Amino acid sequence: MSKQRVLSGVQPTGSLHLGNYLGAIRTWVSEQYEYENYFFIADLHAITVPHDPKTLAKNTYTLAALYLACGLDPAHTTIFVQSHIPAHAELAWLFNCITPLNWLERMIQFKEKALKQGENVSIGLLDYPVLQAADILLYRPQYVPVGEDQKQHLELTRDIAARFNFQYGTPDAPILSVPEPLIRAEGARVMSLTDGTKKMSKSDPSEQSRINLLDSPDEIRQKVKRCKTDPVRGLSFDDPERPECHNLLTLYMLSSGQTKADVTAECADMGWGQFKPLLTESLISALQPIQARYAALIQDRSQIETVLRQGRETAEQAAQETLAAVKNALGYSTPL
Ligand code: TYM
Repeated sequence: MSKQRVLSGVQPTGSLHLGNYLGAIRTWVSEQYEYENYFFIADLHAITVPHDPKTLAKNTYTLAALYLACGLDPAHTTIFVQSHIPAHAELAWLFNCITPLNWLERMIQFKEKALKQGENVSIGLLDYPVLQAADILLYRPQYVPVGEDQKQHLELTRDIAARFNFQYGTPDAPILSVPEPLIRAEGARVMSLTDGTKKMSKSDPSEQSRINLLDSPDEIRQKVKRCKTDPVRGLSFDDPERPECHNLLTLYMLSSGQTKADVTAECADMGWGQFKPLLTESLISALQPIQARYAALIQDRSQIETVLRQGRETAEQAAQETLAAVKNALGYSTPL
């Protein structure tokens, strides 16, 4: 029996942080041998907010190296760059013409990001989820492993697929497959170190708010030392009055590989002074192997180029098949 397919992506903006890793990439890596995998670098999405052309290509390579350093195995995974496959932008255009504007105006991430941009909001920022739907539907994955914040974009993707099938397919022969989000119970929403009610984010202006995968041990020590806590003694999960406590215990649990029951028992009587060094050491040792692999990989540009070239070839083929089916359903003539 052929394996089910998964697809997901990360934008090459800012540094990859623990939220990206625990919410998404960790799942890609741990389940890569069970699925047929497509993971890409969402560089078309990266220009929906003002960007620096001087760093876009470099950030794309860095992210590819990080995918490999986190443990993606290119022998089992198609890794590619979104802008190398023109079908993403082309399908996004076709979907634009069947997507009601008010579906996009409802998107939470658009509203949040638009607020930050003020007068400068581009059509691309509004249209971002349509491009995301194209990214996904081109490859017909069964599952899309993402963090909690992408749930609404996945629902929109499903709605676009269903609408397209309804308008241009028949119930027995749908043109697009409707994917499911794959959101893990733990790590799906890693919160900021400076405010346990806000998600950890690449765009937070404060470096102190996040732990990046490439932070040095000293940076991690400093960030954990200064992170927000509360005045209560004894640490516990799931207390809505103590969002920082829940978040930091979750980071400890996931980085140390322990169960929730183990961490609950270990930390029940601890104060922050005792817990913080434990968390620090656990984070440093969890990130150390990723950082060591990254340091070696980033020296070897040709290896990353080979992975991305092979990825492009495989992805291109899969993408072209879906694009052709969509264009055919819309009534386009085939080029002679
Ligand atoms: P991006 O680059 O913002 O984030 C990449 C992945 O990391 C997850 N994530 C988090 N998970 C837990 N806690 C957090 N604090 C946290 N912050 C981020 C995100 O949910 C995501 O899985 N729109 C996407 C990129 C994209 C995409 C796609 C994803 C473009 N096309 C198609 C899947 C399928 C984004 O901006 O992710």
